[in-house]
Amino acid sequence: MQKIIAGNWKMNGSKSEINLWCKTFFQNLLEFEKNNKENAFVLINIPDIYIDYTDNLINEYNKKTKYIKVNLGVQNIHQEDKGAFTGNNSSMFLKDFNIKYTLVGHSERRIFEKESNQTILSKAINAIKNQITPIVCIGENLEIRENKQHLDFIKQQVLETTNNVDLTKVIIAYEPVWAIGTGKVPTIEEIEEIGGYIKTILSNKNNLEKEQIIILYGGSVKSSNVKEIVNLNSISGVLVGGASLKGDEFFNIVKNCL
Ligand code: PGA
Repeated sequence: MQKIIAGNWKMNGSKSEINLWCKTFFQNLLEFEKNNKENAFVLINIPDIYIDYTDNLINEYNKKTKYIKVNLGVQNIHQEDKGAFTGNNSSMFLKDFNIKYTLVGHSERRIFEKESNQTILSKAINAIKNQITPIVCIGENLEIRENKQHLDFIKQQVLETTNNVDLTKVIIAYEPVWAIGTGKVPTIEEIEEIGGYIKTILSNKNNLEKEQIIILYGGSVKSSNVKEIVNLNSISGVLVGGASLKGDEFFNIVKNCL
């Protein structure tokens, strides 16, 4: 199966930075494709306001590449289609722009916007209803990990955020909060343990094969550590924050996953 390499730009970007990102990423990619035919699923989750601008730009570049194309997603949606929810964006709007992916429940939204597992579940359900794949983010903080409560905590998060959801339409991103933006990464064994653990929980609960549960790892992923992470049995790809902001580093991450 193709590896999934997803970027999360968070609240970063400007027209000039997007131009530079595209120029650098695609220059590297076009050069690479002269001698390589490998493929991967590449996605960048960008601020909503830049969707149209970035989509137009990327469509032009995507026409030039043979194998790898860049897809666009967003970082959050509201759980309702429309209504009196000032300042929010709906997955129905995303359909207008042909956007097919959104993050839901990123830890920064859980922390700063107080999003609960229940809200995140509602967002995932709404996304699927509108033919958008939710990338449901879960992960423990340092205190929970140090108290060795992370397995129970993760179990509760995955079960509550995906309850009665068709898991073949969902991607799970395991992002330990203590690894996000810190440069600290769990050991390869720890990532594999959690990936396998999530697969077991969800496949048992939903009568699915383990292969049908797609799990990404996120938290301080960069070009130098991505290879061993994506080679793990339980991990289908990565969700990259800081290192997705520069076109050349993100390209190196994609290349090292192939
Ligand atoms: P990071 O962020 O790669 O900068 O650690 C990952 C994320 O927040 O998705």
